[in-house]
Amino acid sequence: MRPLFIAGNWKMNPGTAEDAVALAEAIKVGVGQETRVRVALCPPSVFLQAVDGVLENSPIGLGGQNMHWKTDGAYTGELSGAMLVDSGCTHVILGHSERRHGLGETDHQVNDKLKAALAIQLIPIVCVGETLVEREAGKTDEVVGTQLENSLAEITAEQMCGIVLAYEPVWAIGTGKTATPAHAQHVHLFIRNLLRETFNAATAARVVVLYGGSVKPDNAADLLACPDIDGALVGGASLKASDFLGIIQAGQAVTAKGKA
Ligand code: PGA
Repeated sequence: MRPLFIAGNWKMNPGTAEDAVALAEAIKVGVGQETRVRVALCPPSVFLQAVDGVLENSPIGLGGQNMHWKTDGAYTGELSGAMLVDSGCTHVILGHSERRHGLGETDHQVNDKLKAALAIQLIPIVCVGETLVEREAGKTDEVVGTQLENSLAEITAEQMCGIVLAYEPVWAIGTGKTATPAHAQHVHLFIRNLLRETFNAATAARVVVLYGGSVKPDNAADLLACPDIDGALVGGASLKASDFLGIIQAGQAVTAKGKA
């Protein structure tokens, strides 16, 4: 049984700590003590401590958007996993496409970060996904398969059970073009089969695989109802409390109907 998990990736938003606190407060109130769907917020690192203060006594988790693979040292502008934990984080997003494609982050670096996150007991959310060119060339499975194989190198089956994956087709991120539930389910099933081959059937059945890319309150229910989609990594719609709460409510309704 895999409980649904909805994570909000705020990216480089909002502009002030005051707005970050207000957004977190509104989401905290909306979620209350409801735990049927797990929720996490991933604000910019400078707002982590303020948002952590808001989330006290709430079941909502807190995540960083990135971390370095080293524990300390001369790495200007970087953050260690220990710093994220010290700021209240339970989760960390790794290998988001805006870092892979925008900043040249490699599978090898994602793998190093993943091992460092596991070592400090952060729950990693490892992102993979194909570009539009790759999709149109029919290479989605190949690209996602290679990213996973390299990003998960030397990870044990036991470790894998504690890693969250996120399939985020690059062409669907921030574009308003959501993958159809059929396309997303196809790739999620491909990922699950790959996990079965690489690890084992029990591990494949336990790993939570999120979908990300223009998830909104009005398309969330259809995506979350797919058998191999276990939640969503939400960008734009996580910046408006009512939209993010609408996605969580869609997940609660799917769960109530017997999903998972
Ligand atoms: P989006 O972003 O929901 O704005 O498409 C998703 C993500 O990049 O995680």
